[in-house]
Amino acid sequence: MLELLNESLTGVDAEIGSGDVIKADWDEDFRELLSFARESQKWLAEFESTEKERTGIKNLKVGYNDTFGYYVEVPKSRSKDVPPYYMKRQTLVNAERFVTKELLEFESRVQDAYSRIEEKEKELFAELVKKLADNLSSLRRAAEWIAYVDVATSLSLAARKMGWTKPQIVPERILMIKNGKHPVVEWYSDVPFVPNSVDLGASVRTALVTGPNMAGKSTFLRQTAIIVLLAHMGSFVPAQEAVVPLTKKIFARMGAADEIIYGRSTFMVEMTQIARILRESDEFSLVVMDEVGRGTAVADGLAIAWAVIKELSMRKHKPFALISTHYPEIAELSADLPVLFLAAQVAETEEGLTFLYRIEQGVSDKAYGLEVAALAGIPPHVLSEAGKVFQKLSSQDLFLRPEAKQMRLF
Ligand SMILES: Nc1ncnc2c1ncn2[C@@H]1O[C@H](COP(=O)(O)OP(=O)(O)OP(=O)(O)O)[C@@H](O)[C@H]1O
Ligand SMILES: [Mg+2]
Repeated sequence: MLELLNESLTGVDAEIGSGDVIKADWDEDFRELLSFARESQKWLAEFESTEKERTGIKNLKVGYNDTFGYYVEVPKSRSKDVPPYYMKRQTLVNAERFVTKELLEFESRVQDAYSRIEEKEKELFAELVKKLADNLSSLRRAAEWIAYVDVATSLSLAARKMGWTKPQIVPERILMIKNGKHPVVEWYSDVPFVPNSVDLGASVRTALVTGPNMAGKSTFLRQTAIIVLLAHMGSFVPAQEAVVPLTKKIFARMGAADEIIYGRSTFMVEMTQIARILRESDEFSLVVMDEVGRGTAVADGLAIAWAVIKELSMRKHKPFALISTHYPEIAELSADLPVLFLAAQVAETEEGLTFLYRIEQGVSDKAYGLEVAALAGIPPHVLSEAGKVFQKLSSQDLFLRPEAKQMRLF
């Protein structure tokens, strides 16, 4: 039934009655009206050349405006040469505008055609709407099935194309992903995606991922959540092997945003989300929390992050949790907690920093923020100023040596 709509419709510029919505060939009358309207331009061009010949006025032209409709425009210098059947409509600085009986008739035919097009298209559209309304429930069912088939075939195509495997969803509290990947980053990336693994279980369900900027922490957190979600959707997953615990809720605290119209600053939004995670997560939850501890003074951030990690990793009904941070201090503080420490690896070479994107056991103790800032295009003189302060802070041991600082903080 929908074959009557024009394929080129975008929905945005489709005004019913414009003649652009319904296909011309759908209805004979409609087609004739449209072709007459569309050929009117041709008629005008012919009219113009005939009038030039008839009057001998070479720079005469035919035009249209909303107030006066169609007109013949003649330069003032030649207006005395127009034939008697020209009727004056408008005087401009350098030209005069006229109409003829023929032009007026044409105009009324065109106007008539357009109003009939409008009427006809509205009528045809109303018929369509009625037919659709009469079949609404079967249409809805069809749309649901199409959506279902679309999702299922897309997931299976992705699985086949990208070598996904069938995950196991288990009642036990095990989250074991071997060589998992982020499907979207892999798809769009020019370089080969580096797969990573995670293995959490009954007693240790929290992983703390440290690592420099740009090293792949957020990607690793998200891919884990995506794999758990895909598995629960009944899809294959981007991993060599995946054993996923039966999960009821996934909580994700990623990125930074404020909600200033609701009276919430960036840090407030972050804390509200963390509060909700602490309130609502249980052993059937997966929590991914990016950059915990940022957005406030260093000591405050470290303190909150540590307490949150302690709570999540030690509570009775603890969720699976993957938490990332730039602060090695947080790992240091969490040394006695049941936490798996993971670190995104980079290599320092002669040419600079190389991101390896391997997530391995351990704690990373450098952020390489200045190096990444340089890659991002911060001007050298600004970087060199930053470098001086960085040296000073490092030598003062203010923020950078965990063991010294731990005493100061607590
Ligand atoms: N496993 C991977 N294999 C290949 N490329 C990756 C991988 N992980 C991340 N990348 C690339 O590195 C970029 C940065 O990754 P990501 O945002 O995860 O880093 P990050 O450690 O969270 O950095 P930041 O601390 O600055 O937030 C990604 O946009 C992606 O292009
Ligand atoms: Mg990140």
